[in-house]
Amino acid sequence: MKSIDLSRRELMVAASGIAITGLAWPIGVLGQEPDPLGKDLIFRTTDPRNAEPELAKLVKSWITPVKHFYVRSHAPNPDIDVNQYALTLEGRVRTPLTLTLKDLGRLPRHTVTATLTCAGNRRAEFNQEGKVGGVQWEAGAIGNARWSGIALADVLKQAGVLEDAKHVWFEGLDEIQRKDGVIPFGGSIPLEKAMVQGDLPGALLADQMNGQPLTPDHGYPLRTVVPGYIGARSVKWLGKIIVSDKPSPNHYLATGYKIVKKMDPIDWTESGPIYRYPINGAIATPAPNVAVPAGWLDLSGYVLPTGRPGSTAKRIQVSADNGVTWELAQGLGETSEYCWQLWKARVKVTPRTEAILLRAYDNSGGFMPFRVPWNAKGYLQNSWYRLPIRVS
Ligand code: MTE
Repeated sequence: MKSIDLSRRELMVAASGIAITGLAWPIGVLGQEPDPLGKDLIFRTTDPRNAEPELAKLVKSWITPVKHFYVRSHAPNPDIDVNQYALTLEGRVRTPLTLTLKDLGRLPRHTVTATLTCAGNRRAEFNQEGKVGGVQWEAGAIGNARWSGIALADVLKQAGVLEDAKHVWFEGLDEIQRKDGVIPFGGSIPLEKAMVQGDLPGALLADQMNGQPLTPDHGYPLRTVVPGYIGARSVKWLGKIIVSDKPSPNHYLATGYKIVKKMDPIDWTESGPIYRYPINGAIATPAPNVAVPAGWLDLSGYVLPTGRPGSTAKRIQVSADNGVTWELAQGLGETSEYCWQLWKARVKVTPRTEAILLRAYDNSGGFMPFRVPWNAKGYLQNSWYRLPIRVS
Protein backbone atom coordinates (compact mmCIF):
# COMPACT_ATOMS: atom_id res chain seq x y z
CA MET A 1 0.00 0.00 0.00
CA LYS A 2 2.79 2.34 0.97
CA SER A 3 4.42 2.30 -2.46
CA ILE A 4 1.07 3.10 -4.15
CA ASP A 5 0.60 6.17 -1.95
CA LEU A 6 4.11 7.33 -2.67
CA SER A 7 3.82 6.94 -6.42
CA ARG A 8 0.53 8.91 -6.42
CA ARG A 9 2.43 11.64 -4.64
CA GLU A 10 5.13 11.55 -7.27
CA LEU A 11 2.51 11.50 -10.02
CA MET A 12 1.22 14.84 -8.76
CA VAL A 13 4.60 16.40 -8.15
CA ALA A 14 6.12 15.27 -11.44
CA ALA A 15 3.06 16.37 -13.40
CA SER A 16 3.49 19.85 -11.96
CA GLY A 17 7.08 19.85 -13.27
CA ILE A 18 8.72 20.26 -9.86
CA ALA A 19 11.60 17.93 -9.17
CA ILE A 20 11.56 16.12 -5.84
CA THR A 21 14.33 14.31 -4.07
CA GLY A 22 14.58 11.64 -1.42
CA LEU A 23 11.85 9.28 -2.64
CA ALA A 24 13.14 6.00 -3.93
CA TRP A 25 10.99 3.12 -5.13
CA PRO A 26 11.88 -0.51 -5.10
CA ILE A 27 12.84 -1.83 -8.53
CA GLY A 28 9.98 -1.91 -10.97
CA VAL A 29 7.28 -0.45 -8.72
CA LEU A 30 6.44 2.55 -10.89
CA GLY A 31 6.60 0.32 -13.95
CA GLN A 32 3.41 -1.32 -12.75
CA GLU A 33 1.54 2.00 -12.68
CA PRO A 34 1.03 4.69 -15.32
CA ASP A 35 4.14 6.83 -15.57
CA PRO A 36 3.43 10.58 -15.15
CA LEU A 37 5.71 11.39 -18.09
CA GLY A 38 4.09 8.85 -20.42
CA LYS A 39 6.73 6.13 -20.49
CA ASP A 40 5.86 2.45 -20.82
CA LEU A 41 9.02 1.23 -19.10
CA ILE A 42 10.26 -0.84 -16.17
CA PHE A 43 11.61 1.67 -13.65
CA ARG A 44 14.87 0.63 -12.01
CA THR A 45 14.80 3.87 -9.95
CA THR A 46 12.28 6.71 -10.08
CA ASP A 47 14.30 9.46 -8.43
CA PRO A 48 16.22 10.04 -10.58
CA ARG A 49 14.37 8.41 -13.46
CA ASN A 50 16.12 5.29 -14.76
CA ALA A 51 14.04 2.89 -16.76
CA GLU A 52 14.21 0.38 -19.62
CA PRO A 53 11.55 -1.28 -21.78
CA GLU A 54 10.49 -4.89 -21.83
CA LEU A 55 12.65 -6.46 -24.55
CA ALA A 56 9.65 -7.83 -26.48
CA LYS A 57 8.36 -4.25 -26.86
CA LEU A 58 11.82 -2.89 -27.66
CA VAL A 59 12.38 -4.94 -30.82
CA LYS A 60 8.92 -4.33 -32.32
CA SER A 61 10.25 -1.54 -34.55
CA TRP A 62 13.58 -0.38 -35.92
CA ILE A 63 12.85 3.17 -34.73
CA THR A 64 12.15 3.06 -31.01
CA PRO A 65 9.04 5.05 -30.00
CA VAL A 66 9.83 7.61 -27.28
CA LYS A 67 7.62 5.78 -24.77
CA HIS A 68 9.79 2.66 -25.16
CA PHE A 69 13.13 4.51 -25.18
CA TYR A 70 15.21 3.93 -22.05
CA VAL A 71 15.89 6.83 -19.68
CA ARG A 72 19.18 7.24 -17.85
CA SER A 73 19.42 10.31 -15.61
CA HIS A 74 21.73 11.01 -12.68
CA ALA A 75 19.49 13.70 -11.14
CA PRO A 76 15.89 14.89 -11.47
CA ASN A 77 15.01 16.53 -14.80
CA PRO A 78 15.94 20.23 -14.50
CA ASP A 79 13.21 22.83 -14.82
CA ILE A 80 14.22 24.91 -17.87
CA ASP A 81 12.46 28.08 -19.03
CA VAL A 82 12.96 27.99 -22.80
CA ASN A 83 12.38 31.73 -23.05
CA GLN A 84 15.45 32.29 -20.89
CA TYR A 85 17.45 29.38 -22.35
CA ALA A 86 20.78 30.07 -24.08
CA LEU A 87 23.69 27.80 -24.95
CA THR A 88 27.13 29.24 -24.27
CA LEU A 89 30.30 28.30 -26.14
CA GLU A 90 33.66 29.37 -24.75
CA GLY A 91 37.28 28.29 -24.25
CA ARG A 92 39.84 27.88 -27.01
CA VAL A 93 37.80 29.78 -29.65
CA ARG A 94 38.23 33.12 -31.39
CA THR A 95 34.68 34.32 -30.61
CA PRO A 96 32.80 33.00 -27.56
CA LEU A 97 29.09 32.64 -28.37
CA THR A 98 25.77 32.79 -26.55
CA LEU A 99 23.10 31.18 -28.69
CA THR A 100 19.35 31.17 -28.11
CA LEU A 101 17.17 28.49 -29.71
CA LYS A 102 16.24 31.12 -32.32
CA ASP A 103 19.94 31.70 -33.15
CA LEU A 104 20.47 27.94 -33.49
CA GLY A 105 17.37 27.77 -35.71
CA ARG A 106 19.18 29.84 -38.37
CA LEU A 107 21.80 27.12 -38.92
CA PRO A 108 21.36 24.21 -41.40
CA ARG A 109 19.41 21.26 -39.98
CA HIS A 110 20.43 17.60 -40.11
CA THR A 111 18.64 14.38 -39.23
CA VAL A 112 20.66 11.41 -38.04
CA THR A 113 19.35 7.96 -37.20
CA ALA A 114 21.50 6.56 -34.41
CA THR A 115 21.30 4.05 -31.62
CA LEU A 116 21.94 5.32 -28.12
CA THR A 117 23.10 2.80 -25.54
CA CYS A 118 24.23 3.09 -21.97
CA ALA A 119 27.72 1.76 -21.17
CA GLY A 120 25.96 -0.09 -18.32
CA ASN A 121 23.57 -1.99 -20.61
CA ARG A 122 23.45 -5.68 -19.45
CA ARG A 123 25.24 -4.70 -16.20
CA ALA A 124 23.09 -7.04 -14.08
CA GLU A 125 24.78 -10.04 -15.76
CA PHE A 126 28.07 -9.17 -14.00
CA ASN A 127 26.42 -9.93 -10.64
CA GLN A 128 26.75 -13.67 -11.29
CA GLU A 129 30.50 -13.19 -10.80
CA GLY A 130 30.53 -10.43 -8.18
CA LYS A 131 28.14 -7.68 -7.15
CA VAL A 132 28.32 -4.46 -9.17
CA GLY A 133 26.75 -1.19 -8.04
CA GLY A 134 24.78 1.30 -10.14
CA VAL A 135 21.49 0.99 -12.00
CA GLN A 136 20.82 -2.71 -12.47
CA TRP A 137 20.25 -2.69 -16.23
CA GLU A 138 19.22 -5.77 -18.10
CA ALA A 139 19.48 -5.58 -21.91
CA GLY A 140 17.02 -2.71 -22.52
CA ALA A 141 19.29 0.32 -21.98
CA ILE A 142 19.37 0.87 -25.73
CA GLY A 143 17.15 2.48 -28.38
CA ASN A 144 17.30 3.68 -31.97
CA ALA A 145 15.92 7.12 -32.85
CA ARG A 146 15.86 9.79 -35.54
CA TRP A 147 17.60 12.80 -34.03
CA SER A 148 17.30 16.24 -35.66
CA GLY A 149 19.16 19.44 -34.98
CA ILE A 150 22.31 21.37 -35.79
CA ALA A 151 25.76 19.93 -36.56
CA LEU A 152 28.10 20.67 -33.65
CA ALA A 153 30.78 21.38 -36.29
CA ASP A 154 28.75 24.33 -37.64
CA VAL A 155 28.60 25.99 -34.24
CA LEU A 156 32.30 25.35 -33.61
CA LYS A 157 33.18 26.84 -37.01
CA GLN A 158 31.11 29.93 -36.22
CA ALA A 159 33.11 30.42 -33.00
CA GLY A 160 36.46 29.70 -34.72
CA VAL A 161 38.39 26.93 -32.99
CA LEU A 162 41.98 27.87 -32.03
CA GLU A 163 44.97 25.79 -33.15
CA ASP A 164 45.72 24.18 -29.79
CA ALA A 165 42.13 22.93 -29.28
CA LYS A 166 41.81 19.15 -28.89
CA HIS A 167 38.63 18.38 -26.94
CA VAL A 168 35.06 19.67 -26.81
CA TRP A 169 33.46 19.64 -23.35
CA PHE A 170 29.72 19.52 -22.72
CA GLU A 171 27.87 20.49 -19.55
CA GLY A 172 24.24 19.78 -18.72
CA LEU A 173 21.91 21.99 -16.69
CA ASP A 174 21.06 19.23 -14.23
CA GLU A 175 22.33 19.38 -10.66
CA ILE A 176 23.85 16.14 -9.42
CA GLN A 177 24.33 15.80 -5.69
CA ARG A 178 27.68 14.13 -4.98
CA LYS A 179 29.70 13.72 -1.77
CA ASP A 180 31.93 16.66 -2.75
CA GLY A 181 29.08 18.97 -3.79
CA VAL A 182 26.64 19.61 -6.62
CA ILE A 183 27.93 19.17 -10.18
CA PRO A 184 26.40 19.16 -13.67
CA PHE A 185 26.56 16.02 -15.80
CA GLY A 186 29.31 16.53 -18.36
CA GLY A 187 32.09 15.08 -20.44
CA SER A 188 33.94 15.68 -23.66
CA ILE A 189 34.66 14.24 -27.08
CA PRO A 190 37.81 14.57 -29.19
CA LEU A 191 37.77 17.62 -31.51
CA GLU A 192 38.27 15.34 -34.55
CA LYS A 193 34.94 13.60 -33.84
CA ALA A 194 33.20 16.93 -33.15
CA MET A 195 34.35 18.39 -36.47
CA VAL A 196 33.13 15.54 -38.70
CA GLN A 197 30.79 17.17 -41.20
CA GLY A 198 28.53 16.03 -44.00
CA ASP A 199 25.23 14.16 -44.09
CA LEU A 200 26.14 12.43 -40.87
CA PRO A 201 27.74 14.92 -38.49
CA GLY A 202 30.20 13.65 -35.90
CA ALA A 203 27.92 15.11 -33.25
CA LEU A 204 24.54 16.79 -33.30
CA LEU A 205 22.99 19.46 -31.10
CA ALA A 206 19.58 17.82 -31.22
CA ASP A 207 16.26 19.45 -30.38
CA GLN A 208 14.05 16.70 -31.84
CA MET A 209 13.67 12.96 -31.40
CA ASN A 210 11.57 11.01 -33.91
CA GLY A 211 10.23 14.26 -35.41
CA GLN A 212 8.99 15.73 -32.11
CA PRO A 213 10.62 18.16 -29.65
CA LEU A 214 12.73 16.30 -27.09
CA THR A 215 10.77 15.31 -24.00
CA PRO A 216 12.07 16.42 -20.55
CA ASP A 217 13.41 12.88 -19.93
CA HIS A 218 15.54 13.03 -23.09
CA GLY A 219 17.05 16.49 -22.62
CA TYR A 220 14.54 19.18 -23.65
CA PRO A 221 15.25 21.68 -25.10
CA LEU A 222 18.70 20.64 -26.44
CA ARG A 223 21.13 17.74 -26.09
CA THR A 224 24.17 16.38 -27.85
CA VAL A 225 23.88 13.15 -29.80
CA VAL A 226 27.22 11.53 -30.60
CA PRO A 227 26.67 8.57 -32.97
CA GLY A 228 28.95 5.62 -32.21
CA TYR A 229 29.79 6.74 -28.64
CA ILE A 230 28.36 5.46 -25.34
CA GLY A 231 25.21 7.29 -24.24
CA ALA A 232 27.10 9.22 -21.54
CA ARG A 233 28.72 11.39 -24.24
CA SER A 234 25.28 12.53 -25.46
CA VAL A 235 24.70 15.19 -22.81
CA LYS A 236 21.08 16.12 -22.11
CA TRP A 237 19.79 19.60 -21.15
CA LEU A 238 22.93 21.05 -22.72
CA GLY A 239 23.93 24.40 -21.18
CA LYS A 240 27.57 24.92 -22.02
CA ILE A 241 30.21 23.89 -24.57
CA ILE A 242 33.87 24.52 -23.75
CA VAL A 243 36.63 24.00 -26.30
CA SER A 244 39.89 22.98 -24.62
CA ASP A 245 43.34 21.50 -25.14
CA LYS A 246 42.49 18.83 -22.47
CA PRO A 247 39.70 16.31 -21.88
CA SER A 248 36.91 17.48 -19.57
CA PRO A 249 37.64 17.32 -15.81
CA ASN A 250 33.94 16.54 -15.17
CA HIS A 251 33.54 13.44 -13.00
CA TYR A 252 31.60 11.56 -15.71
CA LEU A 253 34.61 11.70 -18.02
CA ALA A 254 37.59 12.02 -15.68
CA THR A 255 36.55 9.31 -13.19
CA GLY A 256 33.16 7.80 -14.08
CA TYR A 257 32.58 5.69 -17.19
CA LYS A 258 35.93 3.94 -17.02
CA ILE A 259 36.75 0.23 -16.81
CA VAL A 260 38.24 -0.34 -13.35
CA LYS A 261 38.84 -3.51 -11.35
CA LYS A 262 38.32 -1.69 -8.07
CA MET A 263 37.61 1.81 -6.79
CA ASP A 264 41.29 2.68 -6.53
CA PRO A 265 43.01 5.95 -7.54
CA ILE A 266 45.62 4.02 -9.57
CA ASP A 267 42.91 2.16 -11.52
CA TRP A 268 41.06 5.45 -12.21
CA THR A 269 44.20 7.14 -13.52
CA GLU A 270 45.41 4.20 -15.59
CA SER A 271 42.10 3.69 -17.35
CA GLY A 272 41.06 6.07 -20.12
CA PRO A 273 37.51 7.35 -20.65
CA ILE A 274 35.17 5.15 -22.70
CA TYR A 275 34.12 6.84 -25.94
CA ARG A 276 33.11 4.36 -28.69
CA TYR A 277 30.86 1.43 -27.79
CA PRO A 278 31.76 -2.17 -28.76
CA ILE A 279 29.44 -4.57 -30.64
CA ASN A 280 26.66 -5.91 -28.39
CA GLY A 281 23.41 -7.81 -28.68
CA ALA A 282 20.58 -9.61 -26.93
CA ILE A 283 17.80 -12.10 -27.50
CA ALA A 284 14.54 -10.23 -26.92
CA THR A 285 11.94 -12.96 -27.46
CA PRO A 286 10.98 -15.29 -25.98
CA ALA A 287 11.30 -13.92 -22.43
CA PRO A 288 13.80 -15.63 -20.09
CA ASN A 289 12.69 -18.86 -18.40
CA VAL A 290 9.41 -19.22 -20.30
CA ALA A 291 8.18 -22.76 -20.91
CA VAL A 292 8.29 -23.68 -24.61
CA PRO A 293 7.36 -26.94 -26.39
CA ALA A 294 10.09 -29.12 -27.89
CA GLY A 295 10.60 -28.47 -31.63
CA TRP A 296 11.23 -25.26 -33.56
CA LEU A 297 11.56 -22.11 -31.47
CA ASP A 298 11.34 -18.61 -32.99
CA LEU A 299 13.74 -16.00 -31.63
CA SER A 300 14.19 -12.27 -32.17
CA GLY A 301 16.57 -9.64 -30.89
CA TYR A 302 19.03 -6.89 -31.68
CA VAL A 303 22.74 -6.54 -32.45
CA LEU A 304 24.48 -3.17 -32.29
CA PRO A 305 27.69 -3.13 -34.38
CA THR A 306 30.80 -1.38 -33.02
CA GLY A 307 30.34 2.41 -33.07
CA ARG A 308 32.90 2.85 -35.83
CA PRO A 309 32.11 4.68 -39.10
CA GLY A 310 30.71 2.25 -41.69
CA SER A 311 30.36 -0.63 -39.21
CA THR A 312 27.40 -3.00 -39.70
CA ALA A 313 26.57 -6.44 -38.29
CA LYS A 314 28.08 -9.18 -40.49
CA ARG A 315 27.20 -12.48 -38.84
CA ILE A 316 24.59 -13.00 -36.11
CA GLN A 317 24.42 -16.54 -34.73
CA VAL A 318 22.35 -18.46 -32.18
CA SER A 319 23.01 -21.82 -30.57
CA ALA A 320 20.64 -24.20 -28.78
CA ASP A 321 23.36 -26.72 -27.83
CA ASN A 322 25.66 -24.60 -25.70
CA GLY A 323 27.80 -23.41 -28.59
CA VAL A 324 28.51 -26.75 -30.29
CA THR A 325 26.60 -25.72 -33.42
CA TRP A 326 25.39 -22.28 -34.52
CA GLU A 327 22.47 -21.16 -36.73
CA LEU A 328 22.62 -17.95 -38.74
CA ALA A 329 20.01 -15.33 -37.84
CA GLN A 330 18.32 -13.25 -40.52
CA GLY A 331 18.58 -9.43 -40.42
CA LEU A 332 15.27 -7.55 -40.23
CA GLY A 333 14.45 -3.95 -41.13
CA GLU A 334 17.18 -1.49 -42.03
CA THR A 335 20.96 -1.88 -41.85
CA SER A 336 22.89 1.29 -41.18
CA GLU A 337 26.10 2.43 -39.50
CA TYR A 338 25.65 3.60 -35.89
CA CYS A 339 22.32 1.74 -35.77
CA TRP A 340 21.26 -1.58 -34.34
CA GLN A 341 20.34 -4.51 -36.55
CA LEU A 342 17.13 -6.27 -35.62
CA TRP A 343 17.10 -10.00 -36.40
CA LYS A 344 15.07 -13.19 -36.23
CA ALA A 345 16.12 -16.83 -36.08
CA ARG A 346 14.69 -20.30 -35.57
CA VAL A 347 16.35 -23.10 -33.59
CA LYS A 348 15.36 -26.64 -32.68
CA VAL A 349 15.01 -27.21 -28.92
CA THR A 350 14.68 -30.49 -26.99
CA PRO A 351 13.88 -31.21 -23.32
CA ARG A 352 17.67 -31.17 -22.80
CA THR A 353 18.00 -27.53 -24.00
CA GLU A 354 18.58 -25.21 -21.06
CA ALA A 355 19.50 -21.99 -22.84
CA ILE A 356 19.91 -20.26 -26.19
CA LEU A 357 23.14 -18.38 -26.88
CA LEU A 358 23.68 -15.35 -29.13
CA ARG A 359 26.96 -14.10 -30.59
CA ALA A 360 27.68 -11.66 -33.42
CA TYR A 361 30.43 -10.19 -35.57
CA ASP A 362 30.61 -6.92 -37.49
CA ASN A 363 32.48 -5.80 -40.58
CA SER A 364 34.94 -3.69 -38.60
CA GLY A 365 36.46 -6.62 -36.72
CA GLY A 366 34.17 -6.41 -33.68
CA PHE A 367 32.80 -9.58 -32.07
CA MET A 368 30.90 -10.49 -28.93
CA PRO A 369 33.40 -12.43 -26.81
CA PHE A 370 32.62 -15.60 -24.85
CA ARG A 371 33.32 -13.77 -21.59
CA VAL A 372 34.00 -10.17 -20.52
CA PRO A 373 36.33 -9.65 -17.54
CA TRP A 374 34.39 -8.44 -14.51
CA ASN A 375 34.78 -4.73 -13.79
CA ALA A 376 33.72 -2.87 -10.67
CA LYS A 377 31.31 -0.45 -12.38
CA GLY A 378 29.77 -3.05 -14.64
CA TYR A 379 30.45 -1.42 -18.01
CA LEU A 380 30.54 -2.82 -21.57
CA GLN A 381 29.05 -6.26 -20.88
CA ASN A 382 28.97 -7.62 -24.42
CA SER A 383 29.71 -11.31 -23.93
CA TRP A 384 27.62 -14.02 -25.66
CA TYR A 385 24.03 -13.40 -24.56
CA ARG A 386 22.46 -16.35 -22.72
CA LEU A 387 18.70 -16.81 -22.63
CA PRO A 388 17.58 -19.50 -20.17
CA ILE A 389 14.48 -21.47 -21.31
CA ARG A 390 12.43 -24.42 -20.06
CA VAL A 391 11.49 -26.99 -22.69
CA SER A 392 8.60 -29.32 -21.93
N1 MTE B 1 23.02 14.13 -19.67
C1 MTE B 1 22.74 14.74 -18.51
N2 MTE B 1 22.71 16.08 -18.48
N3 MTE B 1 22.50 14.04 -17.37
C2 MTE B 1 22.55 12.67 -17.36
O1 MTE B 1 22.32 12.07 -16.30
N4 MTE B 1 22.97 10.63 -18.66
C3 MTE B 1 23.79 10.14 -19.74
C4 MTE B 1 23.41 10.80 -21.07
N5 MTE B 1 23.32 12.23 -20.91
C5 MTE B 1 22.85 12.00 -18.56
C6 MTE B 1 23.05 12.79 -19.72
C7 MTE B 1 23.73 8.71 -19.93
S1 MTE B 1 24.70 7.80 -18.89
C8 MTE B 1 23.06 8.13 -20.96
S2 MTE B 1 23.19 6.47 -21.25
C9 MTE B 1 22.19 8.91 -21.85
O2 MTE B 1 22.16 10.29 -21.49
C10 MTE B 1 20.78 8.40 -21.81
O3 MTE B 1 19.96 9.18 -22.62
P1 MTE B 1 18.40 8.98 -22.56
O4 MTE B 1 17.95 9.14 -21.13
O5 MTE B 1 17.84 10.00 -23.48
O6 MTE B 1 18.12 7.58 -23.05
